[in-house]
Order: sequence, then C-alpha cells, then structure tokens
Amino acid sequence: MKKINIAVDGVSSSGKSTMAKDLAKIIGYLYIDSGAMYRAVTLYCLQNGLINDDKTINEEKLKAELPNIHIHFELDTETGRPITFLNNENVEAEIRGMEVSALVSPVSAIGFLRKEMVKQQQEMSLKKGVVMDGRDIGTVVFPNAELKIFVTASPEIRAKRRVDELRTRGNEDTTYEEVLENIKYRDHHDRNRTESPLRKADDAIELDNSSINIEQQLQWAVDMYHKTIGKQDGNNRDR
Ligand code: DC
Repeated sequence: MKKINIAVDGVSSSGKSTMAKDLAKIIGYLYIDSGAMYRAVTLYCLQNGLINDDKTINEEKLKAELPNIHIHFELDTETGRPITFLNNENVEAEIRGMEVSALVSPVSAIGFLRKEMVKQQQEMSLKKGVVMDGRDIGTVVFPNAELKIFVTASPEIRAKRRVDELRTRGNEDTTYEEVLENIKYRDHHDRNRTESPLRKADDAIELDNSSINIEQQLQWAVDMYHKTIGKQDGNNRDR
C-alpha cells in the first residue's frame, strides 16, 4: 500500500500528540514529536546558561552551540512510545516539566533554530510513512502532506486535561490556574510570532475535540487515514 505523510498540527495540550502517537501505532507508521525537539533545545539552553536574566534567549550563543545539540528518538519497548534523547541522554521527563514549558515558546520562535529543526524533520520523513505533530507541519515541514489535521479545543478543557495528566505522573504541585495561564500564553505566542506562526493550512481538516474522548478522536483519525489512502489508491488506479 502506498505510504503517505500525515501532518497533525494544533494548539498546545490539545491531545494532538496522543492522537498522532496512537494513529501511528495502529497504521504502522513512524511517529515524530516535533515539539519534543524544541523542548530538548530549551532544556539545553537551561543547562548551558543560554537564558538571560530577563528570560530572553542568548541567540548568538545558541547559534554557536547548535552543532553541539543532537536530538534523537528511541522507541520505549515497554510502552511502544518514543523517548527523546538530548546528546544521548534520556530527557523525556525533564522536557515535559514547567521549567521547560515556560521557556519553549521564545526558543521555538527563533528563526535560525526553526530552519535547522525543519531540515532535520524533513530528513527524518523522506521515506514517507510518518505521522508528525507540531505547529507548522502542514504549512512548512510537509506542505505536500497527503493528510493534514488541525486539532483545537477550548483553553479551559485543555488545562484540565493537562493537570489530570500531571497528577497521574505524580506532579501534585502545579495548579490548574498556572497551567491555564501557560496555555493561554503559548496560544498567543504561537499564533502571533513572526516565524511560522501557528495557523491551519488551507487544506487541513479541523477537529475540535472539546466534547469527544480519546477513543472517539482516534477513531476519527483512523477513518480520515483510510479515506485518504482510499483516494490515493483510487488516483493511482486511474492513472
Ligand atoms: O507540542 P508541544 O507543546 O510539546 O510544543 C512545545 C512548544 O514548541 C510549543 O510552545 C510550540 C513549539 N513548537 C513549534 O513552534 N513548532 C513545532 N513544530 C512544534 C512545537
């Protein structure tokens, strides 16, 4: 069967990663979390003194350090989910914490960094059969993706889901208000930045998942995949 690339974009904490991961597993595709790459770079900045006192990023230093930042993914054999490695160190837990979340938006708005990340993301996907999630996948990374999905949900619902997730990971300290504020801040930042702002690609299908659960969302995505593949195979037969 013909393989395609699938772009899943959307607002922060909208459940797009869960959907993209599970979809990739079911259809036997490779899942790539592009947000994890920006998070890993943010962690590198924190660990190496690249954050100025006023919380801006020392871009000059970051540019010089870029060749020393190596990110790769490995599959967790137990969960079947990918783990993010920064310079060969498992950073999966650290990159999900609030310290990284609070600084990842300005880091991901840096033009030269985006250029490098997009290049690496495109290289990882040359053979097709990839589900990648992020903010600019349908617009910049895979402008020709055969299937583009754009996921949204209200900020309050996203904050509640995120807090529930943090609690299941044992984080009792972060409050709902803190998370909601971070989500609203990131929405604003992601949509209004000059470099690749978050926007729905003209040919993306929008899914507002505020009132559906994870299973319903996944079923919807699997149906979309089959529809797209059906069309692709039809097109090939017609040729
Ligand atoms: O999906 P996430 O919340 O883990 O992403 C972390 C941050 O990285 C988010 O604030 C937006 C940014 N990001 C981006 O600018 N482009 C992407 N392709 C993926 C994420």
